Amino acid sequence: MPGSDRSSSRERRSGRERRAAAERRAAARRTGFERRGEAAWQPVTIEAATGTLDDTALVAAAIDARSRARAAYSHFQVGAALETSTGEVITGCNVENATYGLTMCAERVALFKALSEGRDVFTRVVVVADTADPTPPCGSCRQLLWEYCGDIEVVLANLSQVTRRLRLSELLPLPFDGRLLE
Ligand code: THU
Repeated sequence: MPGSDRSSSRERRSGRERRAAAERRAAARRTGFERRGEAAWQPVTIEAATGTLDDTALVAAAIDARSRARAAYSHFQVGAALETSTGEVITGCNVENATYGLTMCAERVALFKALSEGRDVFTRVVVVADTADPTPPCGSCRQLLWEYCGDIEVVLANLSQVTRRLRLSELLPLPFDGRLLE
């Protein structure tokens, strides 16, 4: 019956919106600035913070982005996928240049794309490289991810599996951030 179809789709939508709002609140609590007064670098268990370990779609998005890496100099291709609190996925790949020094990592490409498009609450980042050992974000990326994403979940993967799952505070345990400038 059309009326009940409409109401069930309304209910589904409001359930989704409620979950998205709860996740936005949880993500805001995890951001570095919102956690002022706490020991921001204390690891939080991933299961408790997100309630989900299903990251297949995000890993696939990062693998796809990696295929567009501009890595003519290092030949080290990296893909990243940043998940927003509303479930959107913003990807990035590393972009190198003949100066070498102007290279931009996949993580920051994804972050800058997301910020410039108005996304500002993030829940997870996936980094993919073709290495048996986990490839973690470099120091510059850790700093920028901390600034704009807070203590998000970081999932490291290669082309066939997730190799490590941790929180950004484990990678950047004693962060310099805006709290010190207040
Ligand atoms: N790279 C990334 O894009 N992300 C990382 O997490 C590590 C390194 C890139 C930068 C450069 O293009 C290449 O990998 C080799 O350092």
